[in-house]
Amino acid sequence: MKTEYVFLTEETAENSGEIRRAGEIIKSGGLVAFPTETVYGLGGDALNPASSAKIYAAKGRPSDNPLIVHIADLKDAEFIAEDIPDAFFKLADALWPGPLTMIVKKSGAVPYETTGGLDTVAIRFPSNRIAQALIRAGGGFIAAPSANRSGRPSPTMAQYCREDLDGLVEMIIDGGQVGIGVESTIVDLTEGEPTLLRPGYVTPGMLKEILGGLSVDPTIYGNETSARPKAPGMRYRHYAPSGELTIVEGSTENVVSYINEAVLEAKKAGKKTGVICAEETAPLYGADRVFITGKRGDEEAAARELFRILRMSDDEHLEVIYAEAFGSEGLGLALMNRMIKAAGHRIVRV
Ligand code: TXA
Ligand code: MG
Repeated sequence: MKTEYVFLTEETAENSGEIRRAGEIIKSGGLVAFPTETVYGLGGDALNPASSAKIYAAKGRPSDNPLIVHIADLKDAEFIAEDIPDAFFKLADALWPGPLTMIVKKSGAVPYETTGGLDTVAIRFPSNRIAQALIRAGGGFIAAPSANRSGRPSPTMAQYCREDLDGLVEMIIDGGQVGIGVESTIVDLTEGEPTLLRPGYVTPGMLKEILGGLSVDPTIYGNETSARPKAPGMRYRHYAPSGELTIVEGSTENVVSYINEAVLEAKKAGKKTGVICAEETAPLYGADRVFITGKRGDEEAAARELFRILRMSDDEHLEVIYAEAFGSEGLGLALMNRMIKAAGHRIVRV
């Protein structure tokens, strides 16, 4: 298949010929990769079982891992969900459109191919206007996982969709680098107290303020545990660069000296080394490659850069990589959750 590339901005997307064409592709059962505010998505018609099957094939993803259904009008949630709890409308009112996905009971309109066999459906109303225009043009319901091949970091730029999906999808829409950079926050509203399944830009604090209470799936802290994550996708190996990534946590002084010693040792062993760190400490490291996530404590900048850095460390064939840890409050929780997965739980406290 020859993949078509188009360029759109949030201002020009609606009513453009490109979006109309993209919508036709979706409606006729094809796939389009597109930007959202979190990461790029790999979209197909959520109500068409054949489209979901194509998404799994293009991603190389196990088909028991359910897809998020994207809508562009709150009313459309009622077509794909049943017994929608009040919490859903409260959260939608406060945070949609935006980087929040909610899990509710599915209606008969959603095929099991889309939900990986589950009776629940994950719903998200993205704020990116290219995504919204595509959803409307494509019939209102787009199933979309992140637009990476399974196991790789989610794409934050169209070039990464090309790397992973060229020749496997009908169209890739380039809308520039995404604003957030980590996938949406996922909240399960199907049993008892709302439960956070995946941390993201919408933090536990924001959710608690709206809901009153919130449980947190213990697996998201990234500790080694035998508990099974409730979001099936969270149990797969994810994001891992091909080099050996280790996260180092502690006082700045201890972290810098630990990493420098470790880097020196790796270099002696003939390894190509990398460090992922804040702007302030970057000059202190002697690795072959030093990636800067932003100013110390700027978690928004780090979220935008993290997946790109992980991909670059593969492009540059780094073999041993050390990363400074983030705090685990607010957006830091989402960052650490992704980094710990990428590091295969290798975390050192110094
Ligand atoms: O920001 C995002 O959410 C991006 C953009 C494209 O919208 N999408 C995304 O999709 O990250 P994906 O497929 O990479 O991650 C979806 C996660 C998976 O871990 C999946 O297991 C979980 O959501 N999920 C989907 N439906 C679910 C359900 N009914 N119950 C529990 N978990 C569900
Ligand atoms: Mg994904």
